[in-house]
Amino acid sequence: MTRLFLGVAAALVLHGSASAQAADSARSTRAGVYTARQAAGGHDIYVLTCVSCHSPSSHSGPEFVAKWSGRPLSDLFGFLRSSMPKSEPGSLSAREYTLVLAYLLKMNGMPAGPVELPADSVALSRIRIELKASGDTSQAR
Ligand code: HEC
Repeated sequence: MTRLFLGVAAALVLHGSASAQAADSARSTRAGVYTARQAAGGHDIYVLTCVSCHSPSSHSGPEFVAKWSGRPLSDLFGFLRSSMPKSEPGSLSAREYTLVLAYLLKMNGMPAGPVELPADSVALSRIRIELKASGDTSQAR
């Protein structure tokens, strides 16, 4: 009985430290990873170059959440840079894509914070997209 108890306790300790490590190595979009100023700049670019084909709901609905949740932010950045605007892919600067990315996060109810979102895929690959809307249970896949 005592041995079984110790085994369970050891398993709990191991599990606890593993998940603490995972939380360290990947910040999430819920941690305030862009500034309000970036999102405002992104809004202006969005209005000029994206609304002709998109409405905000196409970047914040359940399909968008299901597709991008859990992936590194660099994936979405890479997609925007290589594919959007669809009519002229790659026509914005890396900085402009970063601003639009900040605005997309804002559209999804992610909080702004004090530190700017970096225009750098390596840094963005360390930020995990976490978009679960309140009341949304799609995370339990
Ligand atoms: C000429 C039309 C057009 C323009 C302009 C355009 N898009 Fe798109 N966008 C599309 C289409 C069509 C898709 C569907 C995927 C595909 O065909 O590549 C898409 C897909 C996307 C997706 C993926 C949506 C998902 O559910 O995964 C994102 C994000 C996106 N666009 C962002 C933008 C942003 C940001 C801009 C402005 C910089 C922009 N788009 C400009 C047509 C456009």
